[in-house]
Amino acid sequence: MAGEVKTFFLSSEVVPFAKTGGLADVAGALPGALRALGVDVRVALPLYRSARSGNFPLERVIERIEVPLGKWILPSSVWATETKEGVKVYLVEREDMFDRPNLYGNPMGDYYDNLERFSFFCHAALRTLEALGWRPDVIHCNDWQTGLVPALISGPYRHSPLLSGIPSVFTIHNLGYQGIFPAEKLPLTGLDYGEFFHPEGVEFWGNLSLLKAGIVYSKAITTVSPTYAKEIQTPEFGLGMEGILHHRREVLRGILNGVDYTLWNPATDPHLAENYYPGKMGGKKRCKEALIQEMGLEERLLQRPLLGMTTRLAAQKGLDLVTEAMEEILALDVGMVILGTGEDYYHKALQRAALENPGKVAVRIGFDEPLAHRIMAGVDIFLIPSRYEPCGLTQMYAFKYGTVPLVRATGGLEDTVRPFDPTTGQGNGFKFGPHTREAFLQCIKEAVRVYEKPDLWRLLVLNGMKEDFSWERSAKEYIDLYMSVMGR
Ligand code: ADP
Ligand code: GLC
Repeated sequence: MAGEVKTFFLSSEVVPFAKTGGLADVAGALPGALRALGVDVRVALPLYRSARSGNFPLERVIERIEVPLGKWILPSSVWATETKEGVKVYLVEREDMFDRPNLYGNPMGDYYDNLERFSFFCHAALRTLEALGWRPDVIHCNDWQTGLVPALISGPYRHSPLLSGIPSVFTIHNLGYQGIFPAEKLPLTGLDYGEFFHPEGVEFWGNLSLLKAGIVYSKAITTVSPTYAKEIQTPEFGLGMEGILHHRREVLRGILNGVDYTLWNPATDPHLAENYYPGKMGGKKRCKEALIQEMGLEERLLQRPLLGMTTRLAAQKGLDLVTEAMEEILALDVGMVILGTGEDYYHKALQRAALENPGKVAVRIGFDEPLAHRIMAGVDIFLIPSRYEPCGLTQMYAFKYGTVPLVRATGGLEDTVRPFDPTTGQGNGFKFGPHTREAFLQCIKEAVRVYEKPDLWRLLVLNGMKEDFSWERSAKEYIDLYMSVMGR
């Protein structure tokens, strides 16, 4: 269908090379789905420490490219590998910038030189194309870390024989991260002050925003669910970008993310105590038992609802509701397992909750992929009380694992979760509206009531397991979009 389309896909994180959240899952899976539909897609990301030490072959494909950072020219090498679907992946090496313990910062805050790091990466990605002599039809950029690329193509690279005129698609995975830096850093990006630093350009309340660069200079903008595409045009969700997004609404659309069922499937998941599927649900019970044991929870919780969360610990994720309502939630005679990492404030609040409720609440601070899978399989209800959620992937993983998502009605959660109706037996989860302790608690009470009716619960679980959020449908939508920005 898309034999002729060549796409260069840029992301600051890609499974299995580097991950902090859902962007990595998307960048790890969507290119494979595009390739299966005939797109010649290649991916680029920085060569982080996690990618260096990962278990895949790396081959140096470009010995030396010269990458500008303001007035400096910094040499770099480019390495390559392939994903399990055969997608070519380029990793840009610059040890002093990317060989660090984390991708973007530490619990104290962001790395102070993120503008330098990601401006460097954007230039390096474009110079990689020049060095390879490969001209893609479309460059697909994701989030602020790659937002500079569309501006670079319309500015400093406009006379590059290879790159001139290549259209960009810019995908917003999270408007909450805007890549804002002091205006004084603009010269480091290579963008001309007069041409780019104004309200219709990269200027944002006196600062420089790399997210805005992506929004303004790309040919088409997408975000990761239809509802979020509408929400971000309003002051409540737009975080100051609503004006420019509304202005560009003709080229803005929501394309729902998918699930990589080769990685998230309880029938084949290598991390589980026992595999299972709709015809063999005993395995799920075994996973719950194993999780209860691993977490040191009371064994009697095997008969009661076990609630779980795996999440970045950020204000976005609504953890305030969880900590505020903790006592009342536990009064329902349920258990809770939380895995997360992020802001120090939440580390402390959650660890306190675990200390105060031994045997009932288990908290693990850290990033742990295998444990994320064991939690997905081992709990009954997966909580996602987000303030906003561009798409959210874990509710879709939960369906497949026979775990019932309980979510706030926002963004992609609104688009994927349908409230269960005990009278008709329709629906796949639980959903609440207002971001309040009362609404959250009401919703949990309702879920517990259904859990206590095993026939109903089984029906609800199976409704979720039947859902299919494969990437193919979304990949087709991206291909249509690539064709349209190419003028086909
Ligand atoms: P977001 O991208 O906002 O973090 P998503 O729901 O799109 O939210 O994706 C989150 C992804 O990150 C999921 O794959 C989830 O399992 C994973 N994840 C989040 N926190 C952790 C953690 N502490 N350990 C392991 N995996 C995590
Ligand atoms: C972001 C969003 C999340 C989305 C993910 C992948 O990090 O917070 O909702 O699922 O990107 O698009």
